[in-house]
Amino acid sequence: MTDSTTSGQRAIAVFTSGGDSPGMNAAIRAVVRAGIFYGYNVYGIRRGFNGMIDGDIFEMTSRDVSNIVQRGGTVLKSARSDRFKTKEGMDQAYENIKPLNIEGLVALGGDGTFRGCWEFNQAYPDVNCIGVPCTIDNDLFGTDFCIGYDTAINTALEAIDKIRDTADSHNRLFFVEVMGRDAGFIALRSGIGGGAEAILVPESRTNIDHLISKLERGWNRNKSSSIVIVAEGDDEGGAFEIAKKVKERFDHYDTRVSVIGHMQRGGNPTCMDRVLASRLGVAAVEALVARRTNVMVGSVHNDIVHTPFDKATKHTQEINMQLLTIAEMLSS
Ligand code: F6P
Repeated sequence: MTDSTTSGQRAIAVFTSGGDSPGMNAAIRAVVRAGIFYGYNVYGIRRGFNGMIDGDIFEMTSRDVSNIVQRGGTVLKSARSDRFKTKEGMDQAYENIKPLNIEGLVALGGDGTFRGCWEFNQAYPDVNCIGVPCTIDNDLFGTDFCIGYDTAINTALEAIDKIRDTADSHNRLFFVEVMGRDAGFIALRSGIGGGAEAILVPESRTNIDHLISKLERGWNRNKSSSIVIVAEGDDEGGAFEIAKKVKERFDHYDTRVSVIGHMQRGGNPTCMDRVLASRLGVAAVEALVARRTNVMVGSVHNDIVHTPFDKATKHTQEINMQLLTIAEMLSS
């Protein structure tokens, strides 16, 4: 139920949608405080599009976002919504936000979220929509970094460092799987930072023969242990599958597999994520003040840029091939 009355004052609303990412709370805080600074009533919508349909909307004050800048997860909760893909769902959402004079929405999420916003704005052009890129996968077009990515790579790196200790103590070969459904950004950076012997990402074809030769070369040079980082979306499979394929033909090492999993999605955001979230949250409100709609705010070469939703959702961020080359050179 909506727990606020209408005052006739201009208003905006903020919500989080899709997979959560560390730094979402810092972005919520920025949107609420910047919104109040620019004279809006600011509403929070719980559980993403589902909360908009159910009227789970409440007015937020500056105090509601105290003490959350450092917290992982999202105080507004998150969800993926099939109901919002229907006309009935969108109509119901509009019925709930219109009496509150909500003229702008700030959506914190990924491409599915922005697609939903775009559809909504086509049906209801009087509600402007601005997206803020939040995903640990970092695969959104229109920003160098997404909120949550920096924290995720540092979480992965910490895990890799710990695995390195035990791998080295037992002369083992470890396959470590990191998140990244369709993208290898987490694998690439955490792998370079962790000094991995090989990094397997979906953006470049994995060659098992090449991987085995590399591990063999290491073995012949008396390498006591090796770590292979596997992005979960790799074309040859996840870490368990790849470990099996390698072990069938190269079993010199005692082999283990470690899947880091959802740990990468939680935890206190790094300073970089908090600052990025603060900048993009303010930029989203300023875009609404300027009556922009259907754009994602991002940071490219440290400048704030606006990328139209149709462009942001049709393209994906390209991985830095130079970094892959560097990783290959340094792991030989
Ligand atoms: O998109 C972020 C992400 O963490 C991916 O890296 C991962 O594949 C997926 O979400 C997991 O989604 P869920 O939490 O629904 O299992």
